[in-house]
Amino acid sequence: MSKQFAVIGNPIEQSRSPELHHAFAEKTGLELHYSKRLAPLDGFDASMHEFFAQGGAGMNVTVPFKEQAFAACAVLSERAKIAKAVNTLWMQDGQLHGDNTDGQGLVEAIQALDWILHNASILIIGAGGATRGVIYPLAQAGVKKIVIANRTLARAEQLIADLKEAVPETDLSALSLEALQGNFDIVINATSASLSGDALILPEALQFKQAYEMAYGKPSSFLDQAKARGVPTSEGFGMLVGQAIESFRIWNGIKPELKDFL
Ligand code: ATR
Repeated sequence: MSKQFAVIGNPIEQSRSPELHHAFAEKTGLELHYSKRLAPLDGFDASMHEFFAQGGAGMNVTVPFKEQAFAACAVLSERAKIAKAVNTLWMQDGQLHGDNTDGQGLVEAIQALDWILHNASILIIGAGGATRGVIYPLAQAGVKKIVIANRTLARAEQLIADLKEAVPETDLSALSLEALQGNFDIVINATSASLSGDALILPEALQFKQAYEMAYGKPSSFLDQAKARGVPTSEGFGMLVGQAIESFRIWNGIKPELKDFL
């Protein structure tokens, strides 16, 4: 039987992970089967353990279970510890291992656009789980300065207090959304505003060369404003492919080329 993989979440119908992993397998000549697994909101642990008990090789975890997956792991990667969330699980020597590939997915998506991260100055709007997961991988890619702007300033300040020791080489600071200003290489929208259909206002005092929207397939006032300024933009499909590639690499030891799947 081919190796079994799955993505677990609730809801799960919308997940593109099976088609991505099957495409990677085809490209790299591996045989695998990757399915979607809907777990009840109170049934993550039972469903996940059942999958591995039945010989599952690896599992991706999506909303709303990434923190529960983190809590369930016996062994965690450094980046998963910092993100406090896990999206990639596997069994090794009888122990549940967890990693978080979301941030590396963003890094690779940005690099595939040929936008420069080394020594870059980046503004991230939002201070939730999505932002927490990308700070360390961005710092490892050589980003020099990260400003986190959030509607609730205290949340951005708390995130910086939590993460500053993990990224000693990176200059981290917080800004409120009302005070949004400055000159940046890249601005990243990590809020859930476009998912809920809310507008974000990018004032004239905020200047940037490139704009990345982490969500994809939704109308985004953030992207509309960036496009109106004529700067290069991207939405988050590349990040989705990037995180999937990094999970595939961990499980199978082969890394597909991101640009082949955009
Ligand atoms: P995720 O895990 O996707 O990051 P989250 O932890 O719920 O989700 O965080 C959502 C982020 O989007 C937060 O930074 C939130 O701002 P607050 O901390 O002030 O709540 C931000 N956000 C959501 N809707 C927004 C809106 N309409 N305008 C600005 N920021 C918004």
